[in-house]
Amino acid sequence: MQIHQARFLCSAVSPEHYPPADLPEVAFAGRSNVGKSSVINTLLNRKNLVRTSKTPGCTQLLNFFEVNGRWRFVDFPGYGYAKVPAEERRRWRPMVERYLNGRRTLRGLVLILDVRRLPSPEDLSLWSWLQERGLAVIAVVTKVDKLSRNERAKQISAIAGRLGWGPESLLRFSATSGEGREELWSALEALLGGQER
Ligand code: GTP
Ligand code: MG
Repeated sequence: MQIHQARFLCSAVSPEHYPPADLPEVAFAGRSNVGKSSVINTLLNRKNLVRTSKTPGCTQLLNFFEVNGRWRFVDFPGYGYAKVPAEERRRWRPMVERYLNGRRTLRGLVLILDVRRLPSPEDLSLWSWLQERGLAVIAVVTKVDKLSRNERAKQISAIAGRLGWGPESLLRFSATSGEGREELWSALEALLGGQER
């Protein structure tokens, strides 16, 4: 995918601050520090359009981006980071549910998992919530550069087992090597070209 335009639009908590619902949109979610922002930067060929950090939990808002004047990406705040104050953690779920339930232009969600870890209770809870609502999900396992081929295959089948999907349906990704970038773009184009809800 050629990226000729990518820009940050705004951060929002509630619908009155979302950008207008006039372009197909996809959201990116996952636990804190899993590598969400890095996945988006890799897709957009940018080093730092989306802020990445070694300190988890620094993004506590929905961040909207516009891509090629045709699509919007939404970077969700990570979940499951113990040091985020309890009050902020409580705000995550209603903020995200309101967005997922109400956003007409939303075509699907990219759920990002760390290849080295089994899905957390929060991952599984989001996963089943999405399945119940029939929202399209692309499951991505990232940081695959951190494991050997063997370990990777073992982990991916364990993760897939927890999700109740086949291992082949998980997309392998690395922001470090760029592996999986084209495959993820193909999956995204299929979603973004789809029908409105
Ligand atoms: P929050 O927004 O804080 O929840 O984090 P995030 O999920 O957006 O993660 P982010 O992209 O900021 O990455 C967290 C850390 O993991 C950073 O230090 C990244 O450099 C590193 N990282 C992200 N993706 C990869 C990857 O594919 N491979 C390796 N080796 N490191 C990665
Ligand atoms: Mg982030």
